[in-house]
Amino acid sequence: MASNKMWYTLALGFLLPFSYAHTDFFTSIGHMTDLINTEKDLVISLKDYIKAEESKLEQIKKWAEKLDKLTDTATKDPEGFLGHPVNAFKLMKRLNTEWGELESLVLKDMSDGFISNMTIQRQFFPNDEDQTGAAKALLRLQDTYNLDTDTLSRGNLPGVKHKSFLTAEDCFELGKIAYTEADYYHTELWMEQALKQLDEGEVSSADKVYILDYLSYAVYQQGDLSKAMMLTKRLLELDPEHQRANGNMKYFEYIMAKEKEANKSSTDAEDQTEKETEVKKKDYLPERRKYEMLCRGEGLKMTPRRQKRLFCRYYDGNRNPRYILGPVKQEDEWDKPRIVRFLDIISDEEIETVKELAKPRLSRATVHDPETGKLTTAHYRVSKSAWLSGYESPVVSRINTRIQDLTGLDVSTAEELQVANYGVGGQYEPHFDFGRKDEPDAFKELGTGNRIATWLFYMSDVSAGGATVFPEVGASVWPKKGTAVFWYNLFPSGEGDYSTRHAACPVLVGNKWVSNKWLHERGQEFRRPCTLSELE
Ligand code: OGA
Ligand code: FE2
Repeated sequence: MASNKMWYTLALGFLLPFSYAHTDFFTSIGHMTDLINTEKDLVISLKDYIKAEESKLEQIKKWAEKLDKLTDTATKDPEGFLGHPVNAFKLMKRLNTEWGELESLVLKDMSDGFISNMTIQRQFFPNDEDQTGAAKALLRLQDTYNLDTDTLSRGNLPGVKHKSFLTAEDCFELGKIAYTEADYYHTELWMEQALKQLDEGEVSSADKVYILDYLSYAVYQQGDLSKAMMLTKRLLELDPEHQRANGNMKYFEYIMAKEKEANKSSTDAEDQTEKETEVKKKDYLPERRKYEMLCRGEGLKMTPRRQKRLFCRYYDGNRNPRYILGPVKQEDEWDKPRIVRFLDIISDEEIETVKELAKPRLSRATVHDPETGKLTTAHYRVSKSAWLSGYESPVVSRINTRIQDLTGLDVSTAEELQVANYGVGGQYEPHFDFGRKDEPDAFKELGTGNRIATWLFYMSDVSAGGATVFPEVGASVWPKKGTAVFWYNLFPSGEGDYSTRHAACPVLVGNKWVSNKWLHERGQEFRRPCTLSELE
């Protein structure tokens, strides 16, 4: 299968010199919009095909009707009919040539145009990996934003422009993908949704027996034996001969009986310890849960006293000549670590230019693999990104200068401007931007030291989701087009500030464009002198 596909791409690669390598559609909206146009083209060519096929059928129909009448008259009085010399001649002609022509018409293939269009376009189609990726993104969103299956299936999301429903079959498909990932929690949710929609009378080719088969297994895997039995019973009502279900039923009954036996001899003391561990589980909030809460905007709120110390101001870049007459708006987003936001700091025109420069180069974002030190793709960073150099456009160069003027940090040692596009489900799980002590080689080849600070432009609004969150301290920063946030990753001593751990929440609706500049230590010796203490 895979090698087949390979062959196909290779063969067509010769014909189409501009074909690009297939790369993860689901990670960004930019590439997916191309697919919408492709689909539109295909619909047009499909309609052309239907028209051609209809006109062909129309011709055939006319012929049949004409012949129907004729043969009716002829069979009623064959001798009288053939007594007319013209009729005799026409019969010869019809049988000798006209039926042959009709045969050719019936055999004529009208699908040429459509099929060749399809063959060309298919090489740009998403593959299984894309479909699974998009499905996993849906499941991820469901968890992060606490969406119940029914809400998601009916398309009731906040901020959506184009409502869209999942069919019972779609739900079944999602359940199957969860199943192949051994994710029985989501398997149960989605199989149940598929079943519910069928029970409500949705017309579908999805089969209840199949759904119940998956569902009962997922429920059993999660330890709910009696529910698994109930579902298996339901399956057997629909298909009494179902072999696996009959086998499972016997097995469930056996396990059930054994458990009852064991329960009789269990003591109260055991129950007590069980309860204690449950309490412990609830108290402990893993980072993942904090991250998801912050993404939903359920973060701990700052005390009013602390909040009062956050200000907004006009900032002139510490008397930078370029900003004395026209200072910029700056707001404190957080105190510790200090995160500031600049408002109206990049114009819509600049954003368009940056996006246009980046678009043809967007490719799946990579991360440092700590084991090999190499760049790889990872499920925890799902977006597409590109790097822009100041040399290639005056706009990029102007943006770099702006960052230098407003941070007071030398940008000549910084990394190039990174542009990132997150599609629906796109995210970057909690991470540090700086290199830790145990990864001294992280930025070695750059030769400019560690990432001292991060500047992050928001180049789009996001309809829902997509916040930048700091789970260590409980801060959520919401994207707002035209603004930028800035924070130091390192203390003046050069030590990493672990409170800067942050994440990009999955986009729920819409899409998110950001660009960021990672400033490095070298060049800042006189701009931000180092100290021995961790305090600024
Ligand atoms: C990053 C990052 C945050 C965001 O690219 O390192 O943390 O909101 N991005 O995109
Ligand atoms: Fe980051």
